[in-house]
Amino acid sequence: MKVLAVSGSPRQAGNTARMLGTVLEVCQKAGFETEIYQAGGKPVRGCMSCGRCFTHAGRCAIDDWINELYQKMAEADAIILGSPTYFADLTTEMKVVIDRCGYISRSTDAFSRKIGAAVSPVRRAGGIHTLDSMNHFFLISDMILVGSYYWNMSLARDEGDYEKDGEGVETLQRLGENIVWLLSKTHD
Ligand SMILES: Cc1cc2nc3c(=O)[nH]c(=O)nc-3n(C[C@H](O)[C@H](O)[C@H](O)COP(=O)(O)O)c2cc1C
Repeated sequence: MKVLAVSGSPRQAGNTARMLGTVLEVCQKAGFETEIYQAGGKPVRGCMSCGRCFTHAGRCAIDDWINELYQKMAEADAIILGSPTYFADLTTEMKVVIDRCGYISRSTDAFSRKIGAAVSPVRRAGGIHTLDSMNHFFLISDMILVGSYYWNMSLARDEGDYEKDGEGVETLQRLGENIVWLLSKTHD
């Protein structure tokens, strides 16, 4: 069983990465294979709406890191997307992941019935909208959305603030437990 986390934050050791780390740690302890993919900070190009992915199943016409990431997403059993809240929404890099990987999968159904969850750190406001933006991707991709005791957010500004938000850490631990529970129930 493989759990893939994608970080849309340019800060590799920032709060998004730490939140994803909490979820992956729970999954690792349950014996699952885990990986964190650093999308934040990579050069971005948006979907060209050329439709080539429909005739070249599983590949985007723009030959960059998105093709590599799409393969990893297609092979995972659970996909966790993480983005810091930027102006009450996700980062540019995460939007590119959703638009391009999401559009490739429209012709392959590669994400069908995979488990999905989104996480976001937020200094003060706008985190719900960021989560919604990522959750829209799961819900149109025939995926199964997992939640926690609370929305998967942490109140954090500077790198490492996440660990000071005890409720945020507990929320992310529970998210990890719920992913483990659901994967165990749905796979032999
Ligand atoms: C460009 C930019 C926009 C931001 N917009 C918001 C915002 O709308 N609301 C908010 O509460 N925090 C906002 N923040 C703060 C980040 O969400 C916060 O610092 C977060 O912990 C960063 O996560 P990271 O450490 O994973 O990069 C913004 C930060 C940046 C750099």
